[in-house]
Amino acid sequence: MTPLEELLRERIRRYGPIPFADFMRECLYHPVHGYYSTAESRRFTDYYTSVDVHPVFGRLLARKFAEMWEQLGRPKEFLLVEAGAGVGRLATHILDFCAAKLPELYRALRYVAVEQSFSRREQADARLGRHAKDGHLRVSQEIPARIPTGCVFSNELMDALAAHRVVMEKGVLREIFVGRDSGKFVDVVAPVSTCAINEYFGTQGVTLNESQHAEAGLEACDWIAEVGRRIESGFVLTIDYGHRAAELFDERHMRGTLLAYREHRVSEDFYASPGERDLTAHVNFTALETWGKRSGLETAEFTSQTAFLLALGQGNEFADLYDAGQSESEQVRARLQLKTLIYPEGMGERFQVLVQRKGVIAEQI
Ligand SMILES: C[S@@+](CC[C@H](N)C(=O)[O-])C[C@H]1O[C@@H](n2cnc3c(N)ncnc32)[C@H](O)[C@@H]1O
Repeated sequence: MTPLEELLRERIRRYGPIPFADFMRECLYHPVHGYYSTAESRRFTDYYTSVDVHPVFGRLLARKFAEMWEQLGRPKEFLLVEAGAGVGRLATHILDFCAAKLPELYRALRYVAVEQSFSRREQADARLGRHAKDGHLRVSQEIPARIPTGCVFSNELMDALAAHRVVMEKGVLREIFVGRDSGKFVDVVAPVSTCAINEYFGTQGVTLNESQHAEAGLEACDWIAEVGRRIESGFVLTIDYGHRAAELFDERHMRGTLLAYREHRVSEDFYASPGERDLTAHVNFTALETWGKRSGLETAEFTSQTAFLLALGQGNEFADLYDAGQSESEQVRARLQLKTLIYPEGMGERFQVLVQRKGVIAEQI
């Protein structure tokens, strides 16, 4: 039994079944035993993200931020906030590229690498020292309270936010709680713990099919609405796997999208070894658009990672892929890595990119 399993077992014994979102939050973010609270060491044994494939992912993103900076009228200070920055790997790729290839943008850049995990913030601090020393970066636990001009972006953060689980039973939406039975965690179906769940589906015009399971990502809704409130003029860019609501809740997703990852194996065994496996749910981009609108964010772009990266790289035939002095075989390897990011059968069509904007006047676009 993991230490977290003992804590959760005791909590359920005392207070009864808990919403799945509480269970997921503890598994991922318990300050001591949470999957993301420990220093990142064995991460590649469980999963990898686009960031780990090749630095060109960050370099092309840097080109996108340069476009945004231009659209905003080249402000003297451009706050670039990366939410869920982990150990600062993507931040390194973006900042190194800006310093070398986009010096005007780099001068204006105030990069904030936001990460909730203390040990990962320490790792990011160590990695990013050079840019911090020059005043271009700080590592923080919090998104800045005010973002006068800038962009808040994330890669694979939204899928890692705690979600409630629901099931449609005899035409009524019911919630799946986590209880204990015979020494194991089990699903307990009961009335919803908060009317926000009914509002979540109602607002998006979604009615689940009979017996359909689904997730309600209420934390993601709160997150995007709050980010929108903090931005005065600028963008939110979200990269993640998922769909718009019409697809996410259709009959192809009768079991919901929640998955557990360990050692590159995917399973629906959410209850095994709490704190030692990654739990994720597909992102509902309609919810991000709907809750974003509540704080003034309008959708500027929604596209696949394939189309997004192609548009940024084709201009110079993906010259950003290569480093000076690379051998022919290193260049071939880099081209193969680019294919993983772009090809539909790789990460290209599985990942979507949503760009929202606020306070960006039409002439600037
Ligand atoms: C799946 S990892 C993605 C890391 C990185 N963005 C990448 O693409 O490799 C999600 C990261 O977001 C962090 N995180 C989760 N919730 C957060 C929040 N509310 N604020 C800041 N960071 C958060 C986690 O600790 C974890 O490091």
